Amino acid sequence: MKQERSRKNMGWDASFATRADSGDLNVGIIGLGYVGLPTAIGFRDAGFNVWGVDLSERIVNALHEGTNPLGDPDLDDMIPAPGSDRWHITRSTAEATAECDVLIVTVPTPVSPDLKPDLSYVESAGRAVFEAAGNGNRKVVILESTVYPGVTASTWLPILDELGLEEGKDVEVAYCPERFNPGDPNHGVRQVARVIGCSNPEVGESLVHLYRRLTSEDVRYVGKVEVAEATKVIENVQRDINIALVNELAQIFPELDLDVEDVLSSAATKWNFHRYTPGIGVGGHCIPVDPYYMMQRAQEVGVPAELITAARAVNRMMPKHVSGVLRDLLYQSGVAAGEGRVLFLGWSYKAGVGDARETPAEPLSENLKDAGISISTWDPYLAASDIPEGIEVIDDISSADGFDMVVLATAHKECVEIDWSALLERMRTPILYDGRRVLDLDAMQAMGWKANAVGSPAQY
Ligand SMILES: NC(=O)c1ccc[n+]([C@@H]2O[C@H](COP(=O)([O-])OP(=O)(O)OC[C@H]3O[C@@H](n4cnc5c(N)ncnc54)[C@H](O)[C@@H]3O)[C@@H](O)[C@H]2O)c1
Repeated sequence: MKQERSRKNMGWDASFATRADSGDLNVGIIGLGYVGLPTAIGFRDAGFNVWGVDLSERIVNALHEGTNPLGDPDLDDMIPAPGSDRWHITRSTAEATAECDVLIVTVPTPVSPDLKPDLSYVESAGRAVFEAAGNGNRKVVILESTVYPGVTASTWLPILDELGLEEGKDVEVAYCPERFNPGDPNHGVRQVARVIGCSNPEVGESLVHLYRRLTSEDVRYVGKVEVAEATKVIENVQRDINIALVNELAQIFPELDLDVEDVLSSAATKWNFHRYTPGIGVGGHCIPVDPYYMMQRAQEVGVPAELITAARAVNRMMPKHVSGVLRDLLYQSGVAAGEGRVLFLGWSYKAGVGDARETPAEPLSENLKDAGISISTWDPYLAASDIPEGIEVIDDISSADGFDMVVLATAHKECVEIDWSALLERMRTPILYDGRRVLDLDAMQAMGWKANAVGSPAQY
């Protein structure tokens, strides 16, 4: 039996905080992807009446059937069953907006092929909400997509002008970046701290009440929208820079006959050394994308952002660097150019999720294929349709044989824990390359592998 509310003027008023405290709000989520779907489920679990919107027929159909449309297995058991109360899924933003007090926009913010921010999704999703919001209702529209400081105002306020809507009278606009970590049960939408930016402090403070019901962690109103926008983007810029440093060290130390992990372990004995792990590259929808948003904004205000730009370049070049190392390992082991067969264990950009967006496995495999090397992959989190054409998909790892090299591309538990000695027996050439620094190289070497890794001196 669905519980519906029948208030007429839904939106922000002086009772908003009290209604948020008691779950008496209708919350719409626009965009039900890796961020929006767990957010919608989280608000429902927190007691709110939820309307979820996605343009994708596939996603909406799956949710109508009560199945998980995404590659994040954490959600498998969390999708509300068809007909569940406080759970409405639709492709119509207008329908959801009419019903909701709060609309949360969680649409993609990718970069274009020339690495410029693509704000078209934020623009069109915002437009659809504002067109349906109507005059005088004071519906609260919150952007959660990752953007650079100034995007919410520069993208949405002109639409309000165009539609004859006034912020503070007809609608309220706020920004609250999503910071959860897909595939990480300890940092889900209900456990991460939130920051809220809003030009109206009264509205901003009342939104703290809304998000406090969602998450067990700290929720703060931080002032201007731009402060909250900048917060998210610099978090990912910082990670990109830290990872770029270890990725650069992983190129330098093998040339000095040193393993970068030995050096990092030693350095980490100092109280203020922050340890990061090198890898074959940085993937996903956030870290390899968000720095370009910051670079764009810095360029607009005439500041070169040299450190951010250099870090991005190091991480972007990592698959190319690794490809050179792998080709050399094959060549030194007597595998003729053009004859090598390489097996990638994992294809997703990160462990524990079936998400191949911006995965470094793709540019790495492209570089190897350019040298005539054939690539196969086994990823228990992805369907064959997620893997690009030209890559052989292995369904059963126990039948993989005749390879010259195994590359651990994603540290899925299932990939790390395969039967390594059984695979070794089926190799044509026993070269192993740990692209995530999770394997015990000495143990692998003792087993009979030529055990190599990102940042370790080569073992031929
Ligand atoms: N994935 C992450 O780990 C993560 C974490 C924090 C923040 N973010 C940010 O959150 C935002 C969303 O990322 P994501 O990974 O969920 O993207 P996604 O591609 O998985 O999901 C976005 C969804 O929005 C839908 N959509 C696009 N335009 C729409 C519209 N006008 N109306 C309704 N639905 C629409 C798409 O069909 C898609 O299902 C991005 O800005 C991203 O940077 C992502």
